[in-house]
Amino acid sequence: MIQVNDAQGAAVAGASVRFHSAPGVIFQPASGITGSDGQFTFAVALGGMAGRYQIVATTTGASGKAIELRMDELALGFEQNQGRQLSDLYCTRCHDPESTAERVSNHDNLTAQAHAFSDGAFLNKMSDADLMAIIQHGGPALGKSAEMPPYGRTLSKSGIQALAAYIRAVADPPHQPGEAVYAQR
Ligand code: HEC
Repeated sequence: MIQVNDAQGAAVAGASVRFHSAPGVIFQPASGITGSDGQFTFAVALGGMAGRYQIVATTTGASGKAIELRMDELALGFEQNQGRQLSDLYCTRCHDPESTAERVSNHDNLTAQAHAFSDGAFLNKMSDADLMAIIQHGGPALGKSAEMPPYGRTLSKSGIQALAAYIRAVADPPHQPGEAVYAQR
């Protein structure tokens, strides 16, 4: 869903919206008109390639001037999706400061700070080896807090690799700059 507002913050009804992204990305619908609430609802199917996709929405304001809005959507590959599932199961309660209806966050009870996996500014500085080591052997393996438990006995090597792949995929800023699949005209 996107919301089109005017400079005063009031919803703009009847504004035309058009999308573009990389080839292979499908929008349903690809263009349309905002409703009386200024909203336009769409679905997006990302391409077959895992990665970060940039989506551009163009709307024409009352002044007739085109306004572009850029947003990133993330397509996870098979291994990264496995990592996400394991993360939901084992890690999120400490690493995500937000509580949800299903899960109460334990983040604020910790003495050491567990970073959100999307915290690229922090996690991108860790090597792949360190990432694997701390998940496998726990915080003390890297001289860090034992509040970070070891998972080497709970999870298989491929599970730990999947978690590392997931952490790399959701990093913001991206782990490898330039890996985004950019919008094309
Ligand atoms: C009981 C709480 C808890 C759980 C559950 C937990 N962690 Fe942690 N984790 C921590 C804490 C606390 C730190 C910070 C340790 C420090 O800096 O001394 C940490 C640190 C890390 C780090 C280093 C980056 C950072 O945030 O400082 C990684 C990577 C990590 N954990 C991955 C995982 C993964 C993957 C899982 C699930 C398999 C997991 N953790 C589950 C508490 C937890």
